[in-house]
Amino acid sequence: MAASDRQAFPERVFSGVQPTGNLHLGNYLGAIKRFVQLQERFDCIYCVVDMHAITTWQDPKELAGQIREVTAAFIAAGIEPEKHIVFNQSQVAEHAELAWVFNCIARLGWLNRMTQFKEKAGKDRENASVGLYAYPTLMAADILAYKATHVPVGEDQKQHLELTRDIAQKFNNDYADSIRAHGHGDAFFPLTEPLIGGPAARVMSLRDGTKKMSKSDPSDYSRINLTDDADAVAQKIRKAKTDPEPLPSEEKGLESRPEADNLVGIYAALADVPKADVLRDHGGAQFSAFKGALVDLSVAKMGPIGSEMKRLTADPGHIDRILAEGADRARGMARETMAAVKDIVGFVRPR
Ligand code: TRP
Repeated sequence: MAASDRQAFPERVFSGVQPTGNLHLGNYLGAIKRFVQLQERFDCIYCVVDMHAITTWQDPKELAGQIREVTAAFIAAGIEPEKHIVFNQSQVAEHAELAWVFNCIARLGWLNRMTQFKEKAGKDRENASVGLYAYPTLMAADILAYKATHVPVGEDQKQHLELTRDIAQKFNNDYADSIRAHGHGDAFFPLTEPLIGGPAARVMSLRDGTKKMSKSDPSDYSRINLTDDADAVAQKIRKAKTDPEPLPSEEKGLESRPEADNLVGIYAALADVPKADVLRDHGGAQFSAFKGALVDLSVAKMGPIGSEMKRLTADPGHIDRILAEGADRARGMARETMAAVKDIVGFVRPR
């Protein structure tokens, strides 16, 4: 058993969302909704990861607006920035500082195994930014700057979480003597656990039930944006791809019917009930009828969030103040970690 498993770290949640534009239902049901629920059980830190965003090109005329939009979505969905912490990454320089130390802990072989880099870099790997390659060490720094013990993420981020644990473990091992000598016990960093799951962790495209709902899909009909109005939501759901069969009454009947499965999954997640309950109530219904019910539910649940987002983004000064306050509190914590890391590594710093 590793030292960091024996040593108790206070429970804390950290998660991040990239401000890369057009937040959609998949971001809400897969991430933000869970962030809101976790506030009941944990101290939470939610970060708009703007430094991760620029690992691929972001138009500087758009980026600030995108950062404010994610912040507005957090707050509109029910995240409470007074009780927890909401901020954007670039305001806390310790993330970049700690990421450098982690670049010296992580091995090339570890990063070479990251599937997200391979996907994002595509065939033209020589032309990918160094930042895109080092993305996971910055993510580890985000999490470990706060010694977060739990991180809600989607399936696609699980590998990055494992890398975060590997970095924590290697730091704890490589510097074990120094960690003890500086009075930090057996382990300096926790081995962070992913929190994966939830009813609709994966929301698929409305045009193709085998592809994830994505901001980069060329068709706007493939996704429901958080700021879509009721008419747009209704149109997109009515036009959503389906098959000719009526809805099954049991979950088994959704197998090899990805579009039906997706719409039922969205309904279940929005209504906070298991898919089985949705099928019990709607089994045998034609899609036209079920889509009507789904439109009503989506508009009822998402409408208020969309209008609150619009209200909040109309006052950018207010959002910027929330981010600055959150960053001040986050920085206080990250500074403490970074000072200890400097001592452990053996750097000289003013006292
Ligand atoms: N990589 C995450 C994503 O794209 C975003 C992210 C950055 C993150 N830093 C994080 C998520 C720290 C959780 C914890 O979804």
